[in-house]
Amino acid sequence: KPIVLSGCQPSGELTIGNYLGALKQWVDMQTSHECYYMLVDQHAITVRPDAADLRKATLDGLALYLACGVDPEHSTIFIQSHVPEHAQLSWVLNCYTQMGELNRMTQYKDKSQKSEANMNSGLFTYPVLMAADILLYRADRVPVGDDQKQHLELARDIATRFNNLYGDVFTVPDPYIPEHGARVMSLLEPTKKMSKSDTNPGNFIGLLEDPKKIAKKIKRAVTDSDEQARIYFDVAEKPGVSNLLSLLSCATGKSVADLVPAYEDKMYGHLKGDVAEAVVAMLEPIQTRFHQYRDDQAFLDQVMRNGAEKASARASKVLSSVYDAVGFIPRP
Ligand code: TYM
Repeated sequence: KPIVLSGCQPSGELTIGNYLGALKQWVDMQTSHECYYMLVDQHAITVRPDAADLRKATLDGLALYLACGVDPEHSTIFIQSHVPEHAQLSWVLNCYTQMGELNRMTQYKDKSQKSEANMNSGLFTYPVLMAADILLYRADRVPVGDDQKQHLELARDIATRFNNLYGDVFTVPDPYIPEHGARVMSLLEPTKKMSKSDTNPGNFIGLLEDPKKIAKKIKRAVTDSDEQARIYFDVAEKPGVSNLLSLLSCATGKSVADLVPAYEDKMYGHLKGDVAEAVVAMLEPIQTRFHQYRDDQAFLDQVMRNGAEKASARASKVLSSVYDAVGFIPRP
């Protein structure tokens, strides 16, 4: 089976963007692929979160993976810091990545504009650790949202460069980006991506939010103030309405083209009511299962323990071949 690897940062609460862009695909790929899904706590410390918050977000994230349908019987689920090979490979890859390549990464540029106070070198080399995550498992496919495309391109470049020097050590991974849901936009600023770290909570919907609050946020979502309040899909002209239509499509499984005619002479409020209902219906079973998993620490421990063991088994082999390639002598 082809190998799949992906992960989310445990920073804040996962959003419907994370679910539709990534997690939903993870679940669908589980039976046809050999899957490795992790929580990247080492990436999360680049913004130096409070330790208690990070612990909570990591366990919440784990329970959410399970609640969304990531199944430890099919997939290897683990915490990045439990598998030391990630940090080890990351160091090696740092030496095969050019400063100029990292300078071109848009996520780093955005972050450095926002938080000049903490411009640590971890933020700069973040994409190298991500490349290590992927290459360490010789992953064939990486299911992610649209915003991770550039990071994946870099992982491919690093793998190709390393292979050109040392032979076929790495698999060059392909991104797997869903046709719909790859770019869920902010509710109040629909030209920017929905993000769990947004300072305005009106912009995102957390997977664990109270249904009433979700409905309220959707009702307040920005629709586009052109003269004719028509409902149709056009991301450039009507970013707000198009985002709502995409959400409705993802949540109901119906195509946008099939949905639009029903709104021919309806008002924005009508669409929002339907979106709220569909999103809540999508999240309610996830929320119920979340609480069951989150309260069962013994089960979570078992998932983490088994996951780390399985992940390490694969990762340590690939790391050994990397160490050998660059000329490290094995510890006698
Ligand atoms: P993170 O934690 O920001 O997001 C996790 C996943 O959710 C997707 N996503 C979205 N998809 C659609 N619409 C949105 N608004 C939206 N927001 C987030 C992301 O594209 C991602 O797939 N660097 C990564 C984590 C990572 C990783 C990896 C991913 C570390 N190592 C190795 C894949 C493979 C990140 O920060 O994702």
